[in-house]
Amino acid sequence: MKFLITAGPTREALDPVRYISNRSSGKMGYAIAAAAAENGHEVVLVSGPVSLPVPQNVICCPVTTAEDMLKAVQSNVDWCDVLVMAAAVADWRPKQVADRKWKKRLGPPQIEWEMTPDILSVVSKIKKTNQVFWGFAAETTNVREEALAKLHDKKLDAIVMNDVSRHDVGFEVDDNQITILFSSGAEIPLPKMSKMDCARHLVEKIAAENKNKKN
Ligand code: CTP
Repeated sequence: MKFLITAGPTREALDPVRYISNRSSGKMGYAIAAAAAENGHEVVLVSGPVSLPVPQNVICCPVTTAEDMLKAVQSNVDWCDVLVMAAAVADWRPKQVADRKWKKRLGPPQIEWEMTPDILSVVSKIKKTNQVFWGFAAETTNVREEALAKLHDKKLDAIVMNDVSRHDVGFEVDDNQITILFSSGAEIPLPKMSKMDCARHLVEKIAAENKNKKN
């Protein structure tokens, strides 16, 4: 199978020295890429700025902004059987990036914001019936409701839900505790485990779902 995976944060420049981004080490997305490659799948990994080595047998497209990530996903989405959006995409960017460094003595800048593209919503419009799209929902409140809303609104086959208000799992740590919610209403809660083990479970479930779709 052909996996297109996104990982890490995206970054939007505010001025030549500052940016806005999201908390994400990229560990979960990179682990999924490694697990898929380990199982003999073809993997393209679209990665925001992270400090992780590219897993063996994975082709990596490095990107910075949400717009760059959208373009890289659009260029590869037709090729893939499976899209896994594990990236933490920055949702806003300044309407105008200052071309000079803001000086502190001028006080906090007034920034006019605009939304970045919602990558999943854009590509789900061109999704083929035999493709499988999975997303992630890292939530701090109303975890289940928020994850279910994203599953529905972004027209996903499944969403991987995790509660990032917990300090022992989620952001920047090696463990995760996830529940997979499927569009069919089924759900699979997984116990706390390493991100690599989570990734192996996810790849196994995704491969099974893709097989079902093809039959
Ligand atoms: N996502 C995306 N494009 C964006 C933002 C998010 O494709 N601009 C994807 C993420 O990669 C993830 C899913 O949508 O698979 C949910 O992302 P999340 O950041 O949890 O949700 P948002 O849609 O950004 O909503 P909110 O920030 O309000 O929770």
